[in-house]
Amino acid sequence: MSRNLIVAANWKLNKGPADATAFLDAFVPKVEAFAGSAEIVIAAPFVTIPSVVAQLAGNSRIAVAAQNCSEQESGAFTGEVSAAMLKEVGAQYIITGHSERRSIYGESDATINAKNKAILAQGLKPIFCIGETLEEREGGKLESVLRTQITDGLKDIDSLENIVIAYEPVWAIGTGVTATAEQAQDTQQFVRSVIAELYNQETADAVQIQYGGSVKPGNAGELLGQQDIDGALVGGAALEADSFFGILENSAQ
Ligand code: 13P
Repeated sequence: MSRNLIVAANWKLNKGPADATAFLDAFVPKVEAFAGSAEIVIAAPFVTIPSVVAQLAGNSRIAVAAQNCSEQESGAFTGEVSAAMLKEVGAQYIITGHSERRSIYGESDATINAKNKAILAQGLKPIFCIGETLEEREGGKLESVLRTQITDGLKDIDSLENIVIAYEPVWAIGTGVTATAEQAQDTQQFVRSVIAELYNQETADAVQIQYGGSVKPGNAGELLGQQDIDGALVGGAALEADSFFGILENSAQ
């Protein structure tokens, strides 16, 4: 089964419109000269999305994502942004379930499930993140934690056709510690087996599963060369055009 790679930048709380413009000025020409087939996604802060969309107008290789959205459609929810609003300004993907949203902002599996549904209802695509802490891994809870996140996060969602899963071990995010290619492969094979149980083998074979956590140009080739790793969700190394492009180059199939 060959799945196309999807390599995404998660800029987190970085890059207003001016910094994003400078990044794309350097990044887009590199992509235009690059033959690889990976889909490229840039997840920008809300206020940066419109300028990124405008700068990428007519560019079919780079999609734009938001990093979060409300599970609500509209109403008295001060400070929130809906999936419909993000669609209106040109986002195609929205990250859900990121460990920073889970741990810092207390998002539950039920909230993440509601966000996934709200995004799909707009015809947009969730990049649905899951991952265990070091304590959970070392305590033998890796599989039960991931199984719960997957089962509850995808509850009552019939099709995974428009969902990308991102496996991000919490202990590898922003720490410089990457899961070994073998650890990431074994875990992602497990994630795919849970999808096969919940859905069917065909769905499991088709769903794209990214790896995230300290991905850099130097380790991207080995990680993305694994059978069950279909791309990367990149934080720190996606803040510079050279290093984000280096990841793409080194992961070329
Ligand atoms: P780093 O690549 O900085 O470890 O971040 C990973 C991440 O959280 C992407 O969503």
